Amino acid sequence: MVRMKMKKKIDIEIIDKKQIPQSEPERQYYFMDIAKNYVEQLAAKKGSPLTFHVTTFGCQMNARDSEKLVGILERIGYVETDTEEADFVIYNTCTVRENANNKVYGRLGVLQNYKKKNPHMLIGLCGCMMQETVVVEKLKESYRFVDLIFGTHNIYKFAELIVTAMESDSMTIDIWKDTDQIVEDLPVERKYSFKSGVNIMFGCNNFCSYCIVPYVRGRERSREPKEIIREIEQLVADGVVEVMLLGQNVNSYGKNLKEPVTFAQLLEEVEKIEGLERIRFMTSHPKDLSDELIEVMGRSKKICKHLHLPLQSGSSRILKIMNRRYDKEHYLELVDKIRAAVPDIALTTDIIVGFPGETEEDFEETMDVVRKVRYDSAFTFIYSKRTGTPAASMEEQVPEDVIKARFDRLLKEVQKISAEKAEALTGQTLPVLIEEQNEQDASLVTGRLSNNSVVHLPGTADMIGKILDVKLTECRGFYYLGERADGNGQTV
Ligand code: 5AD
Ligand code: SF4
Repeated sequence: MVRMKMKKKIDIEIIDKKQIPQSEPERQYYFMDIAKNYVEQLAAKKGSPLTFHVTTFGCQMNARDSEKLVGILERIGYVETDTEEADFVIYNTCTVRENANNKVYGRLGVLQNYKKKNPHMLIGLCGCMMQETVVVEKLKESYRFVDLIFGTHNIYKFAELIVTAMESDSMTIDIWKDTDQIVEDLPVERKYSFKSGVNIMFGCNNFCSYCIVPYVRGRERSREPKEIIREIEQLVADGVVEVMLLGQNVNSYGKNLKEPVTFAQLLEEVEKIEGLERIRFMTSHPKDLSDELIEVMGRSKKICKHLHLPLQSGSSRILKIMNRRYDKEHYLELVDKIRAAVPDIALTTDIIVGFPGETEEDFEETMDVVRKVRYDSAFTFIYSKRTGTPAASMEEQVPEDVIKARFDRLLKEVQKISAEKAEALTGQTLPVLIEEQNEQDASLVTGRLSNNSVVHLPGTADMIGKILDVKLTECRGFYYLGERADGNGQTV
């Protein structure tokens, strides 16, 4: 850990630390008590509770990590506020594409102004972007007002890092290259009472040639199945009806455990948990999607009718250079098998346009897969050069105008197919998990179908967290309007 200078930044009575526990999570609970004392001291001086705001960039993994940050901040006495004009602001960052990084630098300028008005304010940065050496160098150089920087491997140490940052007068930086440690049983504050993400594994071993994730999230580590089941049982006891099992590549779950378990076997165990109604998972890699998993999905009563299966490119030539380890034919075969086992499944995907060396023919192969698979929706990305990845040094980067034209063609096709597919469900009555009151119209609530599509319907806050039958009365492109129905499809 690097501490730039030693002088107390904020005015607190520093607690003498004796007998710091060496084992986790006890050590973190010890630091939470100390941090709580500091927060109380500062709140007494301020005359009101200290506030915090966590801003999350990136994927579901980051969203879950942010819930862990919030859990600790609330436990030590901070109160959440919905503005970034707070006593403690954390950015949980993403670095999968360059523009994610640029957004963070832009917003840091705004935070600096808030800090000028509130000198006791703490600014923390964590997440994937912090695992890049160039980023930390730039922050040390030009963003000296940042108080705390940590990465993806030591987020469990947040309480200890808060104490360090509060006691020091300068930037506290703690970045680890990798870890094999998984710390269980730390506080978590869920965003939704009725659904939750559950980490089942961390890291990624795939090294797709365009992707920075293996460099910032480290090697694959799976949690023990019994820890996962115990966590889900506790969540269900606490009112959760839907879980999203999270990992960069869930299909290779369990391979590195002392007693190896497959992802399909884990799903079967999760299915047995009484009271749990829906199971989702993210993200699947086509190369590791097994027949066993397809079978389990076909049999399951709880696994949602949705599979996110990133394609990236439809060209076998490009897939090879991307190091994806499947080709167009294998991908299309997988899709056929899944549709045969789960006929009403929604398929979604990620596609990159403009990977180095992508020709018009390669791009047409991608369009061909899009037309053949007919995705329910697709996230389309313009290739972003990530320093340190093999693709960044490949020659033949595709000109920007060519990429833009291809991207527009792809998006148009994807949207046309999505709208046609969505229309096909209109008139059906299907179960919807009601998730929130509609932001624009308080007389409506918003929920999701098993296939992950969004439905708005007239309703009240007491419906939130319940799974109700809803008749889809109208399709509006990528969402539906609906009405509550009884079991016979009659609206009520
Ligand atoms: N450029 C553009 N898109 C990328 N993705 C990952 N790396 C890059 C990159 N360098 C996309 C992939 C992945 C999704 C999360 O982000 O499609 O599936
Ligand atoms: Fe972004 Fe990837 Fe990190 Fe998720 S794992 S936050 S997508 S870089």
